[in-house]
Amino acid sequence: MTTTSDPQHALAAFDQELERASLQGHWKMELPKFMEPRSRLHAMHWRWSQLEDFLMRSGDLITVNDAGRRTVQLMNPGISGPRQWTTHTLQMSFQLVLPGEVATAHRHTMNAIRFVIRGGGTFTTVEGESFLMEPGDLILTPGWTWHDHINESEEPILWIDGLDVPLVFALNGAFIEEYSAPQQPVKRIVRTVADGTEGPDGSTWYFKGPETEARLRQMARSARSDEEVIFEYRHADGRPTLSSMLCGMQLLRPGEVTPSQRRTSVGIYYVVGGGNGVTVVDEQSFAWERGDAIVVPNWTWHQHANHSSEEALLFSMSDRPLLEPIGLYREERR
Ligand SMILES: [Fe+2]
Repeated sequence: MTTTSDPQHALAAFDQELERASLQGHWKMELPKFMEPRSRLHAMHWRWSQLEDFLMRSGDLITVNDAGRRTVQLMNPGISGPRQWTTHTLQMSFQLVLPGEVATAHRHTMNAIRFVIRGGGTFTTVEGESFLMEPGDLILTPGWTWHDHINESEEPILWIDGLDVPLVFALNGAFIEEYSAPQQPVKRIVRTVADGTEGPDGSTWYFKGPETEARLRQMARSARSDEEVIFEYRHADGRPTLSSMLCGMQLLRPGEVTPSQRRTSVGIYYVVGGGNGVTVVDEQSFAWERGDAIVVPNWTWHQHANHSSEEALLFSMSDRPLLEPIGLYREERR
């Protein structure tokens, strides 16, 4: 009960009363006359020489049995809290599986992709479908599907893991379960597109590298010279790669400079190969080469330039499918 006659004092006392009851008056907040997203993410660039060195050294220090998964995770210092992630919605990590190792079977509500960088003779089994992993392949592990990885080759295998774990944690929706055995039974082995690339739900779970490249080159032939050449990993009915993630592969022609653009989605890029170039993010310039990873924060002006005489390929992960259905996706060019 407010007893003072000074109005300001009375309001301060009233605010305190509200606070004690876990309430707050809207007058405590300033209503902005203009607002647009201001990302707390930092624009980031990791060099492959460093990533590869750390990843290979982790192979000497950590066994897959100790850790369950041996990954080196990209961390964004713009994210504070109990732990950092690559972005506030999506996580990119690099995984190493040595010859003979098995990353044991489990499932989780987080959606995941694997994009193979180097190696072969390794299988990722998802719900009994065992997919051969070769450089350039993209393999999906939709949420709550059993998955395990086995390297049956003589060489280490390296791949990118992309997960929506920051989003799932933010929504407090994480379930994780271990399988009753190190590996699940294999129902079918899939090595090429001829073996069928669909998972048991009928959507594509396996995008082979050579097919992706062929599609890109076909797109490049028919594109106008000022048009960007981007293959999006979509299902036959047009749905994005995963409900929370759209993956893409951009072909940058020799000398190409993309328009400066910004989107409300985040972009995580990995330089698959070809030429070298520069990505400008706001005021920062990141000179990249094969294997480098870059984070473009949401609603941040950026452009890519291929400074070499070779075609360059940029693999990307974006959270656009989360934003579009709720009217939050926007993009601008200048
Ligand atoms: Fe997993």
